[in-house]
Amino acid sequence: MDSISIRGGARLNGQIPISGAKNAALPLMAVSLLTREPLYLENLPSLADTRFMGELLATLGVEVAYGVNGGGPSAVRLQAPKLVSTLAPYDLVRKMRASFYVLGPLVAREGEAKVSLPGGCAIGTRPVDQHLMALESLGAHIDLQDGYVLAKAPNGLVGAEIAFPFVTVGATVTALMAATLAKGRTTIQNAAREPEVSDVADCLNAMGARISGIGTATLTVDGVAQLGGATHRVLPDRIETGTYAMAVAIAGGEVDLIGARADLVQRVIDVLSEAGVEVAETNEGLRVARNGHRARSTDITTEPFPGFPTDLQAQFMAFMATAEGESTIKETIFENRFMHVPELSRLGAEISVDGQSASVTGVERLKGAPVMATDLRASVSLVLAGLAAEGETVVNRVYHLDRGFERIEEKLGACGADIRRVSS
Ligand code: EPZ
Repeated sequence: MDSISIRGGARLNGQIPISGAKNAALPLMAVSLLTREPLYLENLPSLADTRFMGELLATLGVEVAYGVNGGGPSAVRLQAPKLVSTLAPYDLVRKMRASFYVLGPLVAREGEAKVSLPGGCAIGTRPVDQHLMALESLGAHIDLQDGYVLAKAPNGLVGAEIAFPFVTVGATVTALMAATLAKGRTTIQNAAREPEVSDVADCLNAMGARISGIGTATLTVDGVAQLGGATHRVLPDRIETGTYAMAVAIAGGEVDLIGARADLVQRVIDVLSEAGVEVAETNEGLRVARNGHRARSTDITTEPFPGFPTDLQAQFMAFMATAEGESTIKETIFENRFMHVPELSRLGAEISVDGQSASVTGVERLKGAPVMATDLRASVSLVLAGLAAEGETVVNRVYHLDRGFERIEEKLGACGADIRRVSS
């Protein structure tokens, strides 16, 4: 299995292109199940997860063609004139939780679906009760059998009031996709305001859906009889943006993040500025710089958008591990998202955890070591820590990184990082 080897100490200088957002691309691909017409997605990130979603959709009857219109692998055409299956088996769903996104569109279009329950994962139990509540509100009959969700709505879904008790990105997207084809009006209260949700809503509207309130906590959907095709450009990945911004914060130097959008990462920019990192908007994206002085410790609490994203918590902790002073990092979204702590400690970080809160005392220098992580964002936090560690850091289980970061070693290497992929 491949690993990534990093020799720390090099400053980063140059440009990094920001890819399309994984967490928008995955539901956007599932949206293709809602129409017979072609859906063209541009700026699709080339990742293990998006390829996998393409394979799952193909088993359901979606024709998936990459590299259309001369657009290279980031341009895909998805078209499902007729669905051949409404089953998403355990073997596929367990590999990637986002596979669960096929449930809403399948019930909405075909009136039935059988989708495996995803089960827990490294960052927490991650139930799907709110996805099911939303579909039940829309009139679907839900049964749980042998680890599968059986959803039926033979006469179609019907618009309803859906009020989420807490913010959930996934269940908001499930509700939104399903409601587009429901009869009448659906109101989604306490909807997630994450930009990826808005991107899905924009794409659905381009296909003929009638969604209003996009970007707010109340979404209103007036159902339509059918959706058509569209061409949609996936928005830039705010988590990739924040990750590379923190790479510069840790390693020092000056890097232009091409295609990054400040409005997607405003809270992150504020926190980095507080820590002494310069972030400025340019014509092409964002410029991030830390020159000379050591960064200052800063506290964060993860929150739904527009708060500090949980998907950047591990990377921020790696940054704070070398900043001056003590930082408190609170995780409020997932109950088990500190698995990177023991691995960062192996690199010499001083971190103590008390429940959902971690205290990080910055050290002058981390020291390279072999490490591994159990999820995507934890893995990338170890790569970032490696940039600032003396000697060699080897990050094992690289398949987690390949799920969510496109060509990470090339992007960091092009800015002067001493980083390479080692195949074994
Ligand atoms: C999405 O997961 C992202 N994944 C996650 O990114 C991200 O961390 C998360 O949103 C929060 O921003 C994708 O978009 C594919 P939630 P999702 O529903 O939709 C609980 C990454 O690294 N909950 O907003 O699964 C849940 O357990 C990944 O790219 C229920 O209790 O997150 C969590 O505590 C990791 N019941 C909270 O809500 C439900 O039915 C928020 O989860 C659904 C969620």
